[in-house]
Amino acid sequence: MSKYAWCLVVTMFYGISAVAQNYEAKVDSIMSLMTLQEKIGQTVMYGGSWDQTGPIVGVDNGKYIIEGNMGAMLNAMSVKGTRDLQKLAVEESRLGIPLLFGYDVIHGHRTIFPINLGLSASWDLKMIEESSRIAAEEASAEGLHWTFAPMVDVSREPRWGRISEGAGEDVYLSSEIAKAYVRGFQGDDLSLPNTILACAKHYVAYGAAQAGRDYHTVNMGEGELRNVYLPPFKATVDAGVETFMSAFNELNGVPTSGNKFTLRDILRDEWNFKGFVVSDYTSINEMIPHGFAKDSTDAARIGMNSGVDMDMMGHVYRKHLKTLVEEGKVSEDYINDACRRILLAKFKLGLFDNPYRYIDEERENTTKYKPEFLAKAREIAAASSVLLQNNNNALPIDKNIKSIAFIGPLVKDEYDILGNWAAKGDRNGKAVSVFEGASEYLKPNQILYAKGCDILKEDESGFNEAISISKQADEIVLVMGEGHHMSGEAASRTNLKIPGIQPRLIQKIREANPNKKITLVLMNGRPLNLSEEIKTVDAILEVWFPGTMGGAATADLLFGTVNPSGKLTVTFPRNVGQVPIYYNMKNTGRPIPENNPNEDYKSNYIDVPNTPLFVFGHGLSYTKFAYADLKLSTHQMTFSNTITASVEITNTGNYDGYEIVQLYIRDKVGSVTRPVKELKGFEKIFLKKGESKVVTFTISVDTLKFYNSEMKYTVEPGEFEIAIAPSSDFKFKHIFTLN
Ligand code: GLC
Repeated sequence: MSKYAWCLVVTMFYGISAVAQNYEAKVDSIMSLMTLQEKIGQTVMYGGSWDQTGPIVGVDNGKYIIEGNMGAMLNAMSVKGTRDLQKLAVEESRLGIPLLFGYDVIHGHRTIFPINLGLSASWDLKMIEESSRIAAEEASAEGLHWTFAPMVDVSREPRWGRISEGAGEDVYLSSEIAKAYVRGFQGDDLSLPNTILACAKHYVAYGAAQAGRDYHTVNMGEGELRNVYLPPFKATVDAGVETFMSAFNELNGVPTSGNKFTLRDILRDEWNFKGFVVSDYTSINEMIPHGFAKDSTDAARIGMNSGVDMDMMGHVYRKHLKTLVEEGKVSEDYINDACRRILLAKFKLGLFDNPYRYIDEERENTTKYKPEFLAKAREIAAASSVLLQNNNNALPIDKNIKSIAFIGPLVKDEYDILGNWAAKGDRNGKAVSVFEGASEYLKPNQILYAKGCDILKEDESGFNEAISISKQADEIVLVMGEGHHMSGEAASRTNLKIPGIQPRLIQKIREANPNKKITLVLMNGRPLNLSEEIKTVDAILEVWFPGTMGGAATADLLFGTVNPSGKLTVTFPRNVGQVPIYYNMKNTGRPIPENNPNEDYKSNYIDVPNTPLFVFGHGLSYTKFAYADLKLSTHQMTFSNTITASVEITNTGNYDGYEIVQLYIRDKVGSVTRPVKELKGFEKIFLKKGESKVVTFTISVDTLKFYNSEMKYTVEPGEFEIAIAPSSDFKFKHIFTLN
């Protein structure tokens, strides 16, 4: 049949698709026209040249597209770029099946929000959804249909660079945040041109890499997998996520991009996930170095048979699957399933109705950096920041102060401030530095500045100037931390200190100004060891990498326009030797007795306490919140009723502010040991100074469920401790019984 005739046939499908909304039937119709290789072609994704997010593997995109050997592209964007590529697919290939364009829109596309670990510290599901909604608006305006986000890997490993991309150490909070991202990216209607497919990654347990070394081995019992690492992924399925990404790591000896147990038994059979699974970047091929596949043909066989529907950048599906089917080593049913899922996604996006639906120059030119996007980014960056310490009420600073010395390599930074994975965020002048933000509050003669040193370079030549201006100023603000490249993928650290000679400069500034108020503003992508700094400076404000409007948001916090409200979602250790350390650990058989912390033969270290430097849920405010005693509706819970727990909270300070109220439970005895406490609810409330509010949580049996010793998701009768607190640092005082 001539190409023209095929186009006629395919056009009919476009027409039909505009009328009938039964995607399944349309997909079946198209698939009935496809050759085996064309179905395989849908399972192939290669990269464009607009960005590089992994080792480049040589491809001839145009050839593969026209041959029908490509179903999707990553790192290809812009209206012009995607139009040219889409035209090749739609007008040059035999069946004219449109391409999917995906990209890592992780915490913003052009308008960059705080890194995800920062966003999580806002505990604000509405803000997190808004940030991903704005990201979807900007990304879709540049021709993108799909983001490789949210990353929902729980991690308790600050050495791991990618802890920066997630929502921290807690299962419940990570699950709630995961759903917010999916809602924001996908919206309510995927056929709209401003909604994009989300992608739950990296499936699964990537955040438990041994020693925090990226891509490293993961071993854990099924109970830990089901109670800690799987739930956020299940939450994305419940939220309707359309795609998953398998991971690089092995899990108990089986690479997760070739793992039938996780990809078919759990994801398909238990969770009934209907979307498609894409591999991570050449992660199918990497089963060869894992020692799990003999060669690329074997890798393709394992990948498809295990349940990975699309091969990102690996070439192995395009090259080997047809032969593997002909040799009976891969069932054609699997190819059909994969192709069907991918075509379904394209129908849902409306690409068969109009393959150029996301291509609109006007929209591309008018969407990015909208004032309302930048304003929202400023608000969210402030809400994501955590006031870790505020001795001597160093903060907020009076903007009428005579002079402030701003010192540090990140004071004027507009590059690292966007964080590690900032999509198409403009690192050359668009971001607002802390210096620029402060300049909105202070006159030029109020500001003294010295860089002092670099982030990493061991060069103290700038110290004298920095010390000199510090002595001239009334107060000092240090802006220091990591470079954006020191967290994120393939960026694990064995040392959690502030890098380079920055710590030395902090000490020297303090020595030169023994009684002056010093505030340390931190930009970093992981928990840091601040054991020295907490003794040296007065205030520590954790702003993470706060994004395009980060400097403005930081200034809003420094000068009190915004009252800090963020709370940690990861534990900050005293040193790397404590790692892994997280709030909901197990009690062990020899816990340290509260009344005798130095008792012998207990589970402790001889050199540091078991407690961290800053706990999960920690975050100060410029005001104070008083928690009255908890009230329970009853102390006897049955399997058929719920109980409520309430606390009245009062703003007893001098500033209006937000407070993140947290509900914790402890299951005292189980058929497997249970954590010493678990976050089971939270509510962010706003209280004017002097105002009170009662916060109430409802506890049902679902609140208490876990995977028990038989891997049954259930709840077991017995005693539960309960608390409502401002952080995970509290002692339980209340008990209820479930019978
Ligand atoms: C990378 C990352 C993954 C990303 C993908 C595409 O290696 O692991 O998070 O989505 O490749 O860039």
